[in-house]
Amino acid sequence: MKRKSFPFPVPQRVPLYLAPMAGVSESPFRRLCHAHGADVVVTEFLSAEGIRRENEATISKLRFTEAERPIGVQIFGADPAAMADAAAMVTDLFAPDFVDINFGCPVKKVVRRNGGSGCLRDLDLVQSIIRAVSRATPLPVTCKIRSGWSEEMRDPVGIALRCQDAGARVLALHARTRTQMYTGHANWDEIAKVAEALDIPVLGNGDIKSPQDALRMHEHTRCDGVMIGRGSFGQPWIFRQARALLDGTPVASSPGVAERFAVALEHARLVQAYEVDPIGAAIEFRKHLGWYVKGLPNSAELRQRLHQVKDFAEVEGIFTGYLAGWNPEASPSPDEPDPMSLTCEVG
Ligand SMILES: Cc1cc2nc3c(=O)[nH]c(=O)nc-3n(C[C@H](O)[C@H](O)[C@H](O)COP(=O)(O)O)c2cc1C
Repeated sequence: MKRKSFPFPVPQRVPLYLAPMAGVSESPFRRLCHAHGADVVVTEFLSAEGIRRENEATISKLRFTEAERPIGVQIFGADPAAMADAAAMVTDLFAPDFVDINFGCPVKKVVRRNGGSGCLRDLDLVQSIIRAVSRATPLPVTCKIRSGWSEEMRDPVGIALRCQDAGARVLALHARTRTQMYTGHANWDEIAKVAEALDIPVLGNGDIKSPQDALRMHEHTRCDGVMIGRGSFGQPWIFRQARALLDGTPVASSPGVAERFAVALEHARLVQAYEVDPIGAAIEFRKHLGWYVKGLPNSAELRQRLHQVKDFAEVEGIFTGYLAGWNPEASPSPDEPDPMSLTCEVG
């Protein structure tokens, strides 16, 4: 097996990454996941044009704290010059540990302008972007790709080799095509082939729902790092549990109800301290609350109440009320939405 090294210090031989996720992997959640064992985090994807034009909303999403390191800033766009400018600005103003290029986003409004996975239809463009970005920043440049644009153009090894040749230092593969969006399964055999073919570290991504899946992914693919997205929703402790499995040490059981609520409240406090608009932040936070209570007895009613909160103070009251009437013998609700069934518009 090839010995590969990461271009920035990572605390583990097989690091666990929190996947970049728009509207989810924001600074508070990144800090929470770090505290629960994620080794590396990445910002959600940010438009190179937005950064270059100093769009206020985009720049505000670049904020991170020292506790989040090692952290990568992910940028997207189809114009190599704009991508280079954005990378240079991000480096000068924010100094993350690496710059990540998004070649995976399937959303129409992005791919229409050849951004995200739209680039996968033109591998010369992919290489021009990586080269331009690498020239513009002294930081390591990494890439996140899908297995191809469509079934006919599916060629993860070919695409990954072109990224490596152009200067990518780490490559994450979400092993689905753009046309698959989030349907079917991520093809872990493809991750194995890419990990085998490349000299740079390869991160396996797609369909890790449990800590056991993270171990299975690593055993199946021998990937150099494991990237977890939707599997972290409402259960940031998945990282600590996955680490224990990878290390062959005892795995802590998942937290009980009171502890789960305590993590959700800790998350809420981080969001409250970070966001400037408290009502907007509480409304945005409702999705996380739904994920935290998934599987609890009578959670349909609990979720309904949490989905109406407009203020973080209400959340604590709802949790306290639930715990007061909680019967540990009651069976979990069968009517839970599965976070893995979330077919988001991005990624
Ligand atoms: C809500 C959501 C937002 C996403 N946003 C991004 C993004 O900004 N950049 C990116 O590269 N991928 C994005 N993705 C894709 C994830 O990073 C990941 O590749 C995908 O969810 C598959 O991994 P999983 O099965 O572990 O969730 C997003 C996914 C979701 C569910």
